[in-house]
Amino acid sequence: MKIDRGTAERMEDADERSAMAREVREGLERAPKELPPKFFYDHRGSELFERITRLPEYYPTRAERRILVEQIPSVIAELRPRTLVELGAGSGEKTRLILDAMRHTGTLESYVPIDVSAEFLEQSARRLRTDYPGLRVEPVVGDFLGDDPLPTPRYRPAIVAFLGSTIGNLSTEQSVRLLTHVRESLAPFDRFLLGVDLRKDVRVLERAYNDSAGVTAEFNRNMLRVIDRELGADFDPDAFEHRAFYDEQHQRIEMHLVARGDQEVRIPGVGEFVIADGESIRTEISRKYDRRSVERLLDAAGMGMERWMTDTKGWFAVVTAVRAP
Ligand code: SAH
Ligand code: TRP
Repeated sequence: MKIDRGTAERMEDADERSAMAREVREGLERAPKELPPKFFYDHRGSELFERITRLPEYYPTRAERRILVEQIPSVIAELRPRTLVELGAGSGEKTRLILDAMRHTGTLESYVPIDVSAEFLEQSARRLRTDYPGLRVEPVVGDFLGDDPLPTPRYRPAIVAFLGSTIGNLSTEQSVRLLTHVRESLAPFDRFLLGVDLRKDVRVLERAYNDSAGVTAEFNRNMLRVIDRELGADFDPDAFEHRAFYDEQHQRIEMHLVARGDQEVRIPGVGEFVIADGESIRTEISRKYDRRSVERLLDAAGMGMERWMTDTKGWFAVVTAVRAP
């Protein structure tokens, strides 16, 4: 991972672009076709995601925010953390609730947001430096699914936060690998703070990923725009339809881009692909959890759950976990 590389919108690094080319090739050669969700998030993708979090249908952000408002002060008062490390930080809106609680206990010293969206990360780091004078904000631009260990907290105790149910966007293997890296970064008095979306009425779930304003559809198509720009590909984003549905068997939302008419796509250095009329590219999964499945996941990564905190509807949970002895 790279520390604070600055404000590049286009990838500067030939290595990064060839890594992207490889991942795109692997995904499009697979049957069914699939692309990694991190490619949603250029600056525009991050902004579209921010709009998603404010949609009336998209309940998770509001539910998680409520839980944090009501319960994070007591978590922080007990732990007295000096550092907050945050995976997939995004705009850091909910983060402020944690930082405020840390400021209140007088222990706030360092914030380390990690995200692939470089420019967006830099922008929110600047705002936080203004709003929290004296706080060391040390953003890390990088892929949290890479092989590198997570940054070591400068001051402990530390909280490592992974909010927004972003964990649900990973495969089981990816999530266990990432959480194992989290566990390795924790000292005995540190805590992991995880936000997870819970199983519920399918209509509520499906509505959250099929908003009436079409923002989620634009967010979904943004991945093709990113690939066009970064790799010089010629996807026609408007020739793909947004589709999101709940898969009961796997207990997850799947998000797809479905080709309208046969699509021939050329990606320099990657190859030529035909996506047949009606064929789809899966762009994201969003797993839905219950208490047992979260316990199992933490357990698989060598952590134990401490607190289970939900909203009154039981739609979302924020949990704290500790390194298993
Ligand atoms: N935590 C925020 C944002 C969630 S959206 C919230 O709860 O609202 C997911 C965030 O994770 C985005 O900011 C995206 O850029 C980032 N992200 C997605 N995949 C990533 C990866 N593999 N490595 C690092 N960051 C990633
Ligand atoms: N992790 C969140 C979720 O799965 C946010 C998210 C990622 C999202 N991609 C999305 C939300 C696409 C709506 C549409 O819900």
